[in-house]
Amino acid sequence: MSEAMAAPRPAPMADVAGRTAFITGGANGIGLGIARALVRAGANVVIADIRAESLAEARASLGDDARVETVVLDVTDRAGFARAADAAEARFGKIHMLIGNAGIGIMGPIVDARYDDWDWAMGVNFGGVVNGLVTILPRIRAHGEGGQIVTTSSQSALIPIPFSATYTAAKAAVLGLSEAIRGELASENIGVSAFLPGPVQSNIALSGELRPDRFKSDSGYQTREAELEKRPVSPLWMEADEVGERVLAGIRNNDLYILTHPEFAAGMRKRFDAILASFPDEPINHERAAAIGFLLGNPVFDEELARHSKKEDMAR
Ligand code: NAI
Repeated sequence: MSEAMAAPRPAPMADVAGRTAFITGGANGIGLGIARALVRAGANVVIADIRAESLAEARASLGDDARVETVVLDVTDRAGFARAADAAEARFGKIHMLIGNAGIGIMGPIVDARYDDWDWAMGVNFGGVVNGLVTILPRIRAHGEGGQIVTTSSQSALIPIPFSATYTAAKAAVLGLSEAIRGELASENIGVSAFLPGPVQSNIALSGELRPDRFKSDSGYQTREAELEKRPVSPLWMEADEVGERVLAGIRNNDLYILTHPEFAAGMRKRFDAILASFPDEPINHERAAAIGFLLGNPVFDEELARHSKKEDMAR
C-alpha cells in the first residue's frame, strides 16, 4: 500500500462549527468548560443536567447564545433521555456529538459500601453513559454525517486508589466500553474518545446533595458526603475552561484518549508493568494464540500509536 493510501481518514468532527453537541452534566464544572469551548468554536450545544438552577446560570454565563439549549435531565431516566434528545433535535435538527459527562463523586471505604452506594455510583457514572449511547448513537448513525462520542472516565480508571471502589469501578467500565466501541464505529465515521481527567476545579464535592431518596435507606456513605462538601477546591487543580479546550482539541483530532495531567504517567506505567510482570513465565503456545487471535489485540491501539509517533516525527 502506498503512503498516500495509508493516510488516516480525517477526524469526523475536525470542524465542529455548525455541528451539535449534547453534553450531559454540562451545567457545572468540566461539562460547562466543554460547552464553553464548543460554543467558542461555533458548535451548537445542548446542555443536559439534573440541576435546573445551574442550567439557568450556565445559560446566562454563555450569554444566552442562540447556539445554546438547556434541558433538565437525570441521566438515569431512560424515557427522559429520549425526550431530551427529541428536544435537542427539534431545536438543532441533528445531534453530532455526545459528551457523556454527567457524574457524581462518591468515595469511601469498601467495608462501608452498601447497595444504595453501588447503585447510585454505577447508575449515574456508568449507566448515564450507557443511556446516552443507547439513546443518541442511533440518531447519529441515522443522519450519516458522522459524529463523536466522548465519554468522561477519570484517571482513577487508570490508577485505582484505595477508598474509590464505587467510583473507580464505574469509570473503568466507561473506559473499557469506549475502547471496545471505537473500532466498531470508525467505519461509520463516528469517532470515540475516552476522556480521563486528573483533578479539576469543579462542584464534584457537592455531589451528595444530588443523592436521590431511593438511595438513602441502605447507604454507608451518605453521612460522609456532608464532610466531603467541605473539601476545599485547590487552585492547583486544572480549571474547567482549560480542560474544555483540551476536550475540544481531542474531538477535533478524534483522539482515542484525552488526557490532561502528565503527572499520572509514571504511576500508570508502574501499574501496567505490574500487570505484565504477572504473566506466567511460560512460552507462548502459538497454536492457541492463532485460535484466539481476535482476543489478543485491537487495531485501535496500533492506530493510536501510529498517530502519536507521526506527531513526534513532525516535532523533530
Ligand atoms: P460537577 O459536579 O461540577 O459537574 C457534574 C455535573 O453533573 C453537575 O452539573 C451535576 O448536576 C450533573 N449531574 C450529576 N448527576 C446527574 C444526573 N443523574 N443526571 C444529570 N446530570 C447529573 O463535577 P465535575 O468534576 O465537573 O464532573 C464532571 C465529570 O468529570 C464527572 O463524570 C466526574 O466523575 C468526572 N471527573 C471529574 C474530575 C474532577 O477532578 N473534577 C476528575 C476526573 C473525572
